[in-house]
Formats: sequence, C-alpha cells, structure tokens
Amino acid sequence: MNYAKFAAIILVIGCFATACGTSGTLTTNQNQPSASPATAAATATPDEFARARTNFAKNCAVCHGEKADGGRVEVEGRKLKVPSLREGHALHHTDEKFVKQISEGDDEMPAFKDKLSAEEINELVRFIRNELQEK
Ligand code: HEC
Repeated sequence: MNYAKFAAIILVIGCFATACGTSGTLTTNQNQPSASPATAAATATPDEFARARTNFAKNCAVCHGEKADGGRVEVEGRKLKVPSLREGHALHHTDEKFVKQISEGDDEMPAFKDKLSAEEINELVRFIRNELQEK
C-alpha cells in the first residue's frame, strides 16, 4: 500500500518534470518568433503619434482643448465656440473633410497648410481617430 502510494507520487512528480520540460521548451520556442514583432508594434505605436501629439498640443489645444473636447474659448480676444473632436459631428465627418478643414480652415478655424506638411496633417487626422475618438 505504502509502496504503491510512493510509486504513484514518484510517477506524478516524474510526469510533472517531463511536462514542465516540454512546455518549457515549447514556450521558449513560441515566444521567440512572436516576441520581436510584438515589441516592434509596441514601440511603433507611441512613435507613430509622437509628432501628431506635439503638433496637436502646440497648434490645436489652444482652441479644441488638450483633450479635444472643445467648448467656449477666448483666443486672441475672439470668443469662439469650438466643437469637440471626440464626439458629435466629428465622429461622422470623413477623413477627407478633416484634412480639408485642417489644411484650409473654416469660419473660425485657422488654415494650417502653411504651418504643417500634408504628412503632418494626415498624422493629425489619424491621431484624432485613433487616440481621441478611439476608433
Ligand atoms: C483658433 C481656434 C482653433 C484652432 C487653433 C484650431 N481649431 Fe479646429 N476648429 C475650430 C472651430 C471654431 C471649428 C468649427 C468650425 C468653424 O467654425 O470653423 C473647428 C473645427 C475643426 C474640425 C472639424 C470638426 C468636425 O466636427 O468635423 C477639425 C477636424 C479640427 N477643427 C481640427 C483641428 C486641428 C487638428 C487643429 C490643429 C492643427 C485645429 N483644429 C486648430 C477652432 C480651432
């Protein structure tokens, strides 16, 4: 009886050891190929919007607010009602419309085509979609 128990325990331990050994190698094998793209993606995402974030803070936050939730602001003596970029109409307007709005301006919104490159404006639109609207 005791011997049988012992043997069973030894067997179980033995199984665990083998299982651990196998899964151990498996995990290392699986991790290695997937680790590099995952790391690349993780570093690519914050970098992708780094410039857009800075551009937004520098050029847009004064009116649209740091969180882009809009509201009433007074800029250079003018009282403006600025729309949120996170909700409402901004969710339904197309990327093309955004690009045009930012490049050429609108009633109260200044044009940025002389300040920002087309690439920077495209980045800002993607930044608004991905980071602010979380689309
Ligand atoms: C002087 C204030 C001001 C600044 C600076 C400003 N905006 Fe605007 N923005 C507005 C106002 C006001 C509107 C609403 C349309 C209008 O009245 O011109 C608007 C509209 C928009 C819209 C359209 C929203 C919609 O509902 O479709 C987008 C997109 C936008 N702004 C992005 C930006 C970005 C990006 C920047 C920075 C590069 C920026 N704005 C800088 C005031 C500003």
